[in-house]
Amino acid sequence: MIDPNFGVCGPVNNLTNSQTILFTKGNDQFFSIRTSETGLGPYFVSNSCGGCHSSDNRGHPFTILTRFGQSDSTGNKFLNQGGPQLGTFNLPGYTPEQIPAGATSTRLIAPLTAGVGFLEAVPDTEILNIAKRNQNNPDGVRGHPNYNTIPSFVTPFAGSVPRADGKYICRFGRKGAAYNLLQQTAAAYNHDMGITSTYMPINPYNYLDQTPPPASTPEINNDDFNSVVFYVTCLQTPNQRNAGDATVQKGNQLFIQIGCESCHKQTMTTGDSPIAALSNQTFSPFTDLLVHDMGPALDDGYTEGNAKTSEWRTSPLWGLGLARNVQGGNIYLMHDGRAHSIEEAIQLHGGEAAVSSARFSKLSATDRNAIIKFLNSL
Ligand code: HEC
Ligand code: HEC
Repeated sequence: MIDPNFGVCGPVNNLTNSQTILFTKGNDQFFSIRTSETGLGPYFVSNSCGGCHSSDNRGHPFTILTRFGQSDSTGNKFLNQGGPQLGTFNLPGYTPEQIPAGATSTRLIAPLTAGVGFLEAVPDTEILNIAKRNQNNPDGVRGHPNYNTIPSFVTPFAGSVPRADGKYICRFGRKGAAYNLLQQTAAAYNHDMGITSTYMPINPYNYLDQTPPPASTPEINNDDFNSVVFYVTCLQTPNQRNAGDATVQKGNQLFIQIGCESCHKQTMTTGDSPIAALSNQTFSPFTDLLVHDMGPALDDGYTEGNAKTSEWRTSPLWGLGLARNVQGGNIYLMHDGRAHSIEEAIQLHGGEAAVSSARFSKLSATDRNAIIKFLNSL
């Protein structure tokens, strides 16, 4: 197995023997490469989960995906014209897909998959409490959960209560619009790889020269599918390195002082989970699972759920110092990988994050370096 301090791989501690076997099966599936003989396509963006989620850390712009067709909360207006996702590649004999005229589009690189089971196990009440505490934040930080409609194949967790309009608190994806890891996995197989499952049985198609294909026999069976969901759920959290270093500790204090921690929450706690290793655990993701208005430079004109076009879910910062190892020696940060350094990522913070970003710019070079050193220890 790869050194966990290289990218981020490997299971949480304390899985039972049978859980370890299931995790290993899911690990193989996650990285196994599909071909047209094993269901890939006809439209797809990559041929494996691991192709985009390299070492379960941040993805590379090389495997960027394009979504189109939703500019407000009324839903995607281009679902019958190939939405919500562009099939970047197609099998031979199929016409390349295009973004339909009039549709806004966005480009997203893969966020890290490490630790997502911990994020899933955070109770809705904790997310609501964080949002409530922001109400009087003097820096103008607000943030709200992304309430979205969940697909019929998703069973809500015990304790997760819909709002009066039937929408649930969602938390996965760059805009926080997906409810859980099962939904995220079904959509990834379908939209990213053209692999049908019992949950999403119809392959994406090109509306210009095809009508919707019939539901196919699942191209991934339920056992394999469930092992992949289990695998991502049980991935370990990236662990901090050099936590005892004096500069790292100073950087951590400054990070809190200038208001970064208002959104990038250092500690969260999981509730009860059917997987004992994930139950009632305190962990450090550096996200609040809320979406925030990040200002005009990051407004992509595309949205999901009730996030506005300039709103993004706070990116977890764990594993940041390892990103370079799996991104070819460079780093590509923010939703579309446009920031090539941590400093650049901070400079891009506008909207609700403008105050803390301006404070960062005004710090001495020594203090800025301490924050960067701290972030690289994550
Ligand atoms: C083409 C590249 C690509 C492939 C292939 C891919 N992903 Fe992703 N993944 C992404 C992107 C981009 C996002 C963010 C999506 C969004 O904002 O909705 C994402 C999000 C996720 C998340 C949510 C992470 C978070 O913090 O919210 C999980 C979990 C995930 N993917 C698992 C998988 C699994 C499992 C597979 C294989 C079945 C897979 N992905 C295949 C690119 C990819
Ligand atoms: C108002 C909430 C908020 C505040 C305050 C905030 N951030 Fe962020 N941060 C975000 C969001 C949202 C993103 C994702 C934006 C995107 O993908 O376009 C992000 C992304 C990042 C990233 C890129 C992570 C990645 O994996 O791509 C870094 C680094 C970062 N923030 C550091 C900081 C630092 C340092 C501060 C303090 C100076 C700070 N942030 C303050 C909300 C915030």
